[in-house]
Amino acid sequence: MRMMNIALPKGRLGDKAYAVLARAGYACPAIGEDSRQLTFVSPDRSVRYFLVKPADVAIYVERGAADVGIAGKDILLEYAPDVYELLDLGMGRCRMCVAGPKGFADDHARTLRVATKFPHIAARHYSARSREIELIHLNGSIELAPIVGLSDVIVDIVETGATLRENGLDVLEEIVPISARLIANKTAFKFKREEIRTLAERTQRSLAGKPA
Ligand code: PRP
Repeated sequence: MRMMNIALPKGRLGDKAYAVLARAGYACPAIGEDSRQLTFVSPDRSVRYFLVKPADVAIYVERGAADVGIAGKDILLEYAPDVYELLDLGMGRCRMCVAGPKGFADDHARTLRVATKFPHIAARHYSARSREIELIHLNGSIELAPIVGLSDVIVDIVETGATLRENGLDVLEEIVPISARLIANKTAFKFKREEIRTLAERTQRSLAGKPA
């Protein structure tokens, strides 16, 4: 059996996804230890995990540094990587939304200023509506932008809605539901087909609460 390289997002989603993979028979106990290590090989040498920034998972998989990875649908929609999407893991559920001040009325006589971490998703959303916008590409704390007058609205992820609520903002439009996906490199899917299919099947069983 050839070793599979798996790109895992660092953080809460990665922890959950790893728990599912571990139950599926791909445990690597060292991963739970508190360290700065970024790669982990399982004791049976069936898999090697890479810990990467969530937004970078698709790049590792598209370029073949990782054979498979766990990426949010938001990242897949934003970067449109040339990869296979094998499985919806049903975790990391949230919604991509337009949000703004409560009661915001869009004045079509003016260009709409849109702040976001997802410029392609935002551009596609508004171009499909022939709405002229000015994109303001930020890296985080997006909810601040309309509050301080940097933008009129935001395009961002809403999970519990707490961040919007606590900042006096409302969902104005839902763009698309988001969840985590198991993705695969296209070439690896040919050459490690058996290993990758087995991983996808076992992961699906693990998600359903069945033993590996
Ligand atoms: C994300 C997103 C929202 C928030 C939504 O931010 O950009 O700000 O979570 O979650 P909620 O609906 O449960 O409040 P993240 O925590 O990734 O931080 P960021 O500000 O650095 O983007």
